[in-house]
Amino acid sequence: MHSIRAEALSALLKTDVNSKLAATLGINGKSGLELSSLLQANSGRLPCSPAKPILVHPSEVKQRSVHTKEGRAILIHALAHIEFNAVNLALDITWRFDNLPNQFYLDWVKVAKEEAHHFRLLRNHLNGLGFEYGDFPAHNGLWEMAEKTKDDVLARLALVPRTMEARGLDVSPGIRDKLRSVGDIEGAAILEIILHDEIGHVTIGNHWYHRICAERKLDPTKTNTELALQYGAPSPRAPFNVEARRQAGFTDDELTMMGAS
Ligand SMILES: [Fe+2]
Ligand SMILES: [Fe+2]
Repeated sequence: MHSIRAEALSALLKTDVNSKLAATLGINGKSGLELSSLLQANSGRLPCSPAKPILVHPSEVKQRSVHTKEGRAILIHALAHIEFNAVNLALDITWRFDNLPNQFYLDWVKVAKEEAHHFRLLRNHLNGLGFEYGDFPAHNGLWEMAEKTKDDVLARLALVPRTMEARGLDVSPGIRDKLRSVGDIEGAAILEIILHDEIGHVTIGNHWYHRICAERKLDPTKTNTELALQYGAPSPRAPFNVEARRQAGFTDDELTMMGAS
């Protein structure tokens, strides 16, 4: 158990996609790796992106109609890239923050492994369309919020799992339906798996956010608004998947605040 954070950092530091996936899925807390020596040897190396996809400004990321094979591949590629980032984000929250209960680290390792699974499902599907991860440009927006919130676990929980990951709950049903409408049944099934698992991830984010708010004697709803402002996070916007958000532990107060009920 004591080396679990070091193993997460070691996986995060890998730039080769397959090595990162293997290292993530292999985290077991038994390697004996030391966090301090890994940090010393690798200071300044984060984030560790593979050579491809090339990273561009969000406005330069192509979008095409999903009625064409290439358009569908671009969509699946974008989703795979989100999952690749999600692996990194879950690894990062696992290693970065000190003095939390063991269960915190175990929860985020579980998330990292599920993100690796999501990535693999999408990459296999992309391969079936004749493309590879890295064939299209991508953007780095998700990692930027991780950078900004690297000094405060509460800000990280508020703005990554509870904002950006929760946004996935809102948009996945629409993407699933779009894929189904063009006959991509396999793609739609993958989106269904992801939606199911992401409810679990947001639940974990909500659990720890509320727990740390309680420890710091902070009002969760008010604090979230303040943190979003302070860190320039995107505001939640309709339409909301209220049912999934409820299942993931958003309170009535929070749903009302974001205009979702
Ligand atoms: Fe995911
Ligand atoms: Fe997730």
